[in-house]
Amino acid sequence: MKIALLGYGKMGKEIEKLALSRHHEIFLKIDNEVEWRNNLEKLSESDVAIDFSMPGCVTDNIKRCFQKNVPIVVGTTAWFEELDEINKLCVQTDQAMIYASNFSIGVNIIFEINRKLARIMNGQNEYELTIDETHHIHKIDAPSGTAIKLANDAIDILDRKNAWSGTASLDTGMINITSNREGNITGTHLIKYESDIDSLEIKHEAKNRQGFALGAVLAAEWIVGKSGFFEMKDMLGF
Ligand SMILES: NC(=O)c1ccc[n+]([C@@H]2O[C@H](COP(=O)([O-])OP(=O)(O)OC[C@H]3O[C@@H](n4cnc5c(N)ncnc54)[C@H](O)[C@@H]3O)[C@@H](O)[C@H]2O)c1
Repeated sequence: MKIALLGYGKMGKEIEKLALSRHHEIFLKIDNEVEWRNNLEKLSESDVAIDFSMPGCVTDNIKRCFQKNVPIVVGTTAWFEELDEINKLCVQTDQAMIYASNFSIGVNIIFEINRKLARIMNGQNEYELTIDETHHIHKIDAPSGTAIKLANDAIDILDRKNAWSGTASLDTGMINITSNREGNITGTHLIKYESDIDSLEIKHEAKNRQGFALGAVLAAEWIVGKSGFFEMKDMLGF
């Protein structure tokens, strides 16, 4: 496949390595607005685009792909307010997009376990749920998109929770998310249910960025020829 890489930072470079190892061609690399000006036409010749850029430009990048009929894989996080509008635009204009706050297969397994565990815990009111995430010091957004998804999925299921908070809240309707920024850590997420008697923990620890890159390239291979707005669970068949 001819891949357009939108964003050539830490993740863009990792995806390039992974895509080449799977015999794809990196047809286009765009890392800023100046490069867009010279390469918009080349985008239409790409089979698929993969966007790991920045929250301020991701929706423009997506709309450019929609206009050029290029399916897009989006890994950029921290643009939740615009997600619904993009979802609608994708469906209305018969385009193809897969979005995941985390493309790691392991994390998507954890998403599924998190939903199942929340269903079990719905009647166990003595357990308090908290979520803890740790990332490298360069990560711009906090809490991570992954921690927010874990919290929102649990809120949809747990009757006793109705919102999440990124600062320690005493409101029992809140799920508290703690964000830590340390050194070079790729990404660690901990889901914890705790009562006065015991605690249960589920942890995912990314050892490097390869898992995100592999998931994104697999998603690019999967989305070509489809139309609609997809999530990883559609691809993984959970
Ligand atoms: N979904 C996932 O699995 C996953 C995994 C890791 C990171 N992320 C997210 O992916 C994004 C990128 O992460 P990163 O660590 O590679 O960040 P990074 O800062 O290393 O790279 C971002 C790149 O985007 C470029 N950019 C700026 N404006 C652009 C534009 N208009 N068009 C295209 N590119 C532009 C920047 O020059 C930069 O090189 C972040 O939002 C991060 O949270 C998602």
